[in-house]
Amino acid sequence: MSIIYLNGKFIPDSDACISVLDRGFIFGDGVYEVIPVYNGCLFRLPEHLQRLQNSLDAIRIINPYPTQEWQRILNELIDKNHGGDLSVYLQITRGVAKRDHALPKDIQPTVFAMANPLPPPDKALAQNGIRAITGDDYRWVNCHIKAISLLPNVLLRQQAIDAGASETILLRNGEATEGAASNLFIVENQVLVTPPKGPFLLPGITRDLILELAAQNHIACEEAAISELRLRKADEIWLTSSTKEILPVTYLDNQPVGGAKPGPMWHTLVDLYQSFKKSFSR
Ligand code: PDD
Repeated sequence: MSIIYLNGKFIPDSDACISVLDRGFIFGDGVYEVIPVYNGCLFRLPEHLQRLQNSLDAIRIINPYPTQEWQRILNELIDKNHGGDLSVYLQITRGVAKRDHALPKDIQPTVFAMANPLPPPDKALAQNGIRAITGDDYRWVNCHIKAISLLPNVLLRQQAIDAGASETILLRNGEATEGAASNLFIVENQVLVTPPKGPFLLPGITRDLILELAAQNHIACEEAAISELRLRKADEIWLTSSTKEILPVTYLDNQPVGGAKPGPMWHTLVDLYQSFKKSFSR
C-alpha cells in the first residue's frame, strides 16, 4: 500500500476516489509531471514546477498552489512513502463538471500525486543498450504541453513492444522529434545533437541537464533538426527521460547503431550524470 495525495489529503491509494465526471476522466483534460527523487530529495524541482506552470498556462488552468506549497506537499508525500529513490507523479485536472466541451466556470481543479519506487538503471544497459523502432509521429501539434491525454504515445510505445523493442522514435515530415515518452539525442562525429524545442516535442528536464553537463565539460553540442537519414547514420543514438535517465539505442529498426554497443560519448555522459546526481543528493 502506498500513500497518495488527493485534494488536500494524504490517504492510502486504495481509499482514493474521484468523480466519474472529473474532466480528466471524461476528456483527458489535465496536465502532469514526473519528478525523480534520489535519496529522498526531489531532483530538478524548480525546472519541473516551471514546466508544470507552462503546461497549466497553455491549457488555462490556474496553478492551485504556490511553489512553497508544492514543495511541502511533495516532501510530505516522499516522507510518507519512506524516502529513498522514487518517482513522483503529479497530475492536475480541470475538475468535476457536467460534461460539456467548453471550459466550465468556477470549478476546483483535482490535484493528485503519488510516489512509486524508482529502480536504478539496469546494469545490462551498458553492455547491450536497447532496441528502438521508428514510427509515424501522428500526435497533435502541442507536444510541448505535458498533457495527460496520451493515447497516441501509449499506442506508439506499444508498437515498439510488439516489435520486440523498448521505444519508438517518432518521425514527422522526415525529421525525428523524440521518443513516445523520451527525448532524442544523436552523436555525429563527436558532436551531440538534439532537436530544438518547439511544438513537436516535450522540453525534457533530462534533455536540458544533459546539454548543461555537456557544455560545462566542453563537449560539442548542437540543437538542430535530425533528418531520418541523419538518424540512421548516427554514431550513437540515446533516449532520455526522468525515470530512464540516458538509454543507449544499439539497434534501430533491427539495424545496428554504431558498433551495436553503447558508444564512448554515452559512457562519458552517463558518468557525468551519475556524478551530478551524487553531488546533488548528498
Ligand atoms: N515522460 N518526451 C515525452 C513525450 C515524454 O513523455 C517524456 C517523459 C520526455 C522526457 O522528459 P523528462 O526528461 O522531463 O522526463 C520527453 C515521463 C517520464 C512519463 O510520461 O512517464
